[in-house]
Amino acid sequence: MSNDAPETGAFFARDREWHPKPLTPGYKTSVLRSPQKALLSFDNTISEITGPTFGHSMLGELDNDLIHNFARNGESAIGERIVVHGRLLDERGRGVAGALLEFWQANAGGRYRHKRDGYLAPLDPNFGGCGRTVTDERGFYAFRTVRPGPYPWPNGPNEWRPAHIHFSVFGHGFAQRLITQMYFEGDPLIARCPIVRTINDPAAICQLTAALDMNATVPMDALAYKFDIVLRGRRSTLFENRLEGN
Ligand SMILES: [Fe+2]
Repeated sequence: MSNDAPETGAFFARDREWHPKPLTPGYKTSVLRSPQKALLSFDNTISEITGPTFGHSMLGELDNDLIHNFARNGESAIGERIVVHGRLLDERGRGVAGALLEFWQANAGGRYRHKRDGYLAPLDPNFGGCGRTVTDERGFYAFRTVRPGPYPWPNGPNEWRPAHIHFSVFGHGFAQRLITQMYFEGDPLIARCPIVRTINDPAAICQLTAALDMNATVPMDALAYKFDIVLRGRRSTLFENRLEGN
């Protein structure tokens, strides 16, 4: 919801307390996902270092419009229409250009279009649930979607994920992919979520929580939420793939 001031100075030590420990049994899946042995380090291959290269030319016209990118002609996804926007930033608060952002989410009822999602909420025939965009020269991105619904998951007898959107950020090499989740300001399920509760610092949770941004709303059309992603530094966004040893 708020970012601390950008880093200054020449060296930015990583705050090892910022990300939770990989093994946090309250989040059941972390027991199997967390490394049980010392990590091995491999050199990157040439293709990992030199690719991929992204450009706006690879994007389809509706790739950043989840309301329409899966919908039949003249129809649109059901749900609360929103714009999600923000900037991809480095540790000094500078925008990062040309990064591929991919996002995926449940529909307005909390159901993913995935064969292993058996939640009883119905699929929306006009909603696919994924999209992508590339940050502009100042690091800005934006996309349209519907607000995802919360959904239950089998972590315990009655656990619910807060409304959230998954993000993947590609840098300029395949080895630079980062994954995170965005939550919505004011959602009472955030504080109850076992995944969120693995995070010790309330400021880190706040940073994953998009603020309602009335300035970016489209009157009579869509509300807007602002979500900045910080790649590095002491106030880096929490990236969940780092919990698996990255
Ligand atoms: Fe999810």
